[in-house]
Amino acid sequence: MTTPGDDLAAPADEIEVHECVAVTDDLVDAMDRLIPQLSSSNPAPGRAELAEIVASPATTLFVARHRGRIVGALTLVAFRIPTGVRTRIEDVVVDETVRGRRVGEMLSEAALDRARQLGARSTDLTSRPSREAANRLYSRMGFQQRESNVYRYTL
Ligand SMILES: CC(C)(COP(=O)(O)OP(=O)(O)OC[C@H]1O[C@@H](n2cnc3c(N)ncnc32)[C@H](O)[C@@H]1OP(=O)(O)O)[C@@H](O)C(=O)NCCC(=O)NCCS
Repeated sequence: MTTPGDDLAAPADEIEVHECVAVTDDLVDAMDRLIPQLSSSNPAPGRAELAEIVASPATTLFVARHRGRIVGALTLVAFRIPTGVRTRIEDVVVDETVRGRRVGEMLSEAALDRARQLGARSTDLTSRPSREAANRLYSRMGFQQRESNVYRYTL
């Protein structure tokens, strides 16, 4: 069994990132553990919601595993609009026991590779300034801040 203590020693070469093509029990359990580390207002997706994400051509769910245990997740959203293929990175989260070991970077690289394969010329994301680790990660990777107003209409 893997304990958080083991994870603290996780070197990057023991981390594997792959696309989820099926909803497994360990994926459901991992989301229960990871999503509260990302959002206090949204509940973790259940089996049905995860099945929708995995089945949709618009979303690709990537997970990072350390010795088989899921320790991070990212969702790439891709869709065509009149001006081209648009891609967005959403819901990036890495288990607090393995942060600082570039798992977030590996997940993001996997998403960028997929976005390239899909014909996108860029990938967007948003991150609140208070998410300091996330903003450092994206800047370090070469994401550039855009001058644009971000709007939300609450339904
Ligand atoms: C943002 C997040 C995904 C980064 O994952 P990660 O695997 O730790 O990413 P990295 O290892 O590439 O490190 C990112 C930065 O965080 C720092 N960091 C944050 N927490 C750390 C910790 N507990 N231990 C060590 N470093 C940490 C790293 O040093 C690094 O900064 P640097 O580039 O100046 O060295 C992760 O911190 C997380 O899940 N945060 C909560 C959810 C969140 O904010 N998601 C992003 C939504 S936009």
